[in-house]
Amino acid sequence: MLDFVTRPQDLDPIEIASRDEISALQFHRMKRSLKHSYENSPFYRKRFDEHGVHPEDLKTLSDLAKFPFTTKTDLRDTYPFGMFAVPREKLVRIHGSSGTTGKPTVVGYTKHDIDVWADVVARSIRASGGRPGDIVHVAYGYGLFTGGLGAHYGAERLGCTVVPISGGMTERQVTLMNDFKPRIIMVTPSYMLSILDEFRRQGIDPRESSIEVGIFGAEPWTNAMRSEIEQAFNMHAVDIYGLSEVMGPGVANECVETKDGLHVWEDHFYPEIIDPVTGAVLPDGELGELVFTTLTKEGLPMVRYRTRDLTRLLPGTARSMRRIEKITGRSDDMIILRGVNVFPTQIEEQILKCGGLAPHFQIELTRAGRMDNMTVHVECAANYTDAAARAQSARELAHHIKSVVGITTKIEVQDPTSIARSEGKAKRVVDNRPKS
Ligand code: DLL
Repeated sequence: MLDFVTRPQDLDPIEIASRDEISALQFHRMKRSLKHSYENSPFYRKRFDEHGVHPEDLKTLSDLAKFPFTTKTDLRDTYPFGMFAVPREKLVRIHGSSGTTGKPTVVGYTKHDIDVWADVVARSIRASGGRPGDIVHVAYGYGLFTGGLGAHYGAERLGCTVVPISGGMTERQVTLMNDFKPRIIMVTPSYMLSILDEFRRQGIDPRESSIEVGIFGAEPWTNAMRSEIEQAFNMHAVDIYGLSEVMGPGVANECVETKDGLHVWEDHFYPEIIDPVTGAVLPDGELGELVFTTLTKEGLPMVRYRTRDLTRLLPGTARSMRRIEKITGRSDDMIILRGVNVFPTQIEEQILKCGGLAPHFQIELTRAGRMDNMTVHVECAANYTDAAARAQSARELAHHIKSVVGITTKIEVQDPTSIARSEGKAKRVVDNRPKS
C-alpha cells in the first residue's frame, strides 16, 4: 500500500491552526449562529425563551451548556419546513431520512450551506488521501439520502473526476471499476463487502483493482472490518462520519496517515460529549453521547443536536482539530440482552476472528417466555462449507462472544450468499420479539 505524505501547503490553514485560534473562531461563529437561530427561526426563539436563555448569554464557549438540546423529535414535530431559519425560497436543496421509523425528517440547505458542505467533504477526501485529478467512484446512494450527493460535490470541489454510480447493480459497479480504474471509492463498508463478493464471483482479484483508498461511513464498522477490507483490496480504508441533521457526510473524517479516529471539522461543527441520561457535559476523553452545534449553517442551524452516537472526544493528532473515537454504536442500536448491553459491532468483531466465517451476518432477537434470546446468523467462508467445519465455526464464535461480550448466543452458520446483502446501510438487527 502507498504511504501518504501531507504537505502543510495543501491544507486549509485552520486544519493546522493553534487551539487558541480554533477556539476564537468557534466563539465568534457560535455567537453569530445562536443569534441567527434566535432571530430567524421561530422554533429556536420559542425554545430559547422557554429555557430562559438568550444568545447574549454566551460569554465563553462553555456557556453553550446553558442552551437547550435539539432532538430528532423536534424535526418530526416541525415536519416538513418548520425549523428553517431562512425563507423556503432561499433553500436550494432538500434532503431527508427515509422515514422507516416514523415520519421522515427533512433538512434544507442554502447555496452557502451547499458550498460549505462541498468544502468539508473535499477536506475529508483529501484527509483520506484523495488528490485533485483522482477518479472517485461514488457508490453511496443518490437521492434524499445525503451520502451520494454529499460525496459527489465534495469530490468535484477537490478537483476529482466523479463517477456517480450510486448504490446497487453490483455487477455493473465492478465492471465500471475495471474499466474506469478509480483510485478512490466512497461507499458504506457493508456495501463494499458486497462489491468484494462480486469481484470474486467474476474471478477478478480485488488486490489487482485500481482502488487505493476507500472512504467508508454512514454506519458503524470496526477496526477488524477495516483490516478485512484493507487486506482483501490492498487498499487504505478510512472512516467518514456525518448525519443529515447536521450536514451529511463530512462532519468528521479520519486522516489516512494515522487512522486514529476522526477529526471533527470544528470550524463548522462544534462537538460536545454529554451524559446521555443527565445531559451534563462530560470532559474530553470520557465516553458519552455526541452533540453538535453548527457554526456556519444558514438554512437549518442546529443548536446542541443530540446525535445518539456514542463516542469520546480526543485531542488532535494529524490535524489540530479534536478527534472522535471511531463510533461503534448508537444508543438506538444497543441491545440489552439479559441485562448486558450489546452493540452489533461487538458481534462483528468476534465474527472476524473466526477464519471459517464470512463477514456477512444478521442478529435476530426472539423471546421465549420472559427470556430474550439472540441468534447470530452468519455465513460460512467459501472453503469451510462442510458440516464439520460449520459446527466448529459455530462453537468458536459462541465461545468468543461468551468470553468477550459476556452473553450466550445461538449461532446459525448459513450457506454463502444466504444473508441479504446491503446496498447502503446494513440492517444488522431483526427484532422478532413480540411487541409489548
Ligand atoms: O449517514 C451521512 C453519511 C453519508 C455519513 C455517507 C458518512 C458517509 P444519516 O443517514 O442521517 O446520514 O445517518 C446518520 O449514521 O448519526 C450515525 O449513527 C451513522 N453514521 C454515519 N457515519 C458513521 C460512521 C449519513 N462513520 C447516522 N461510523 C449517524 C458510525 C456512522 N456511524
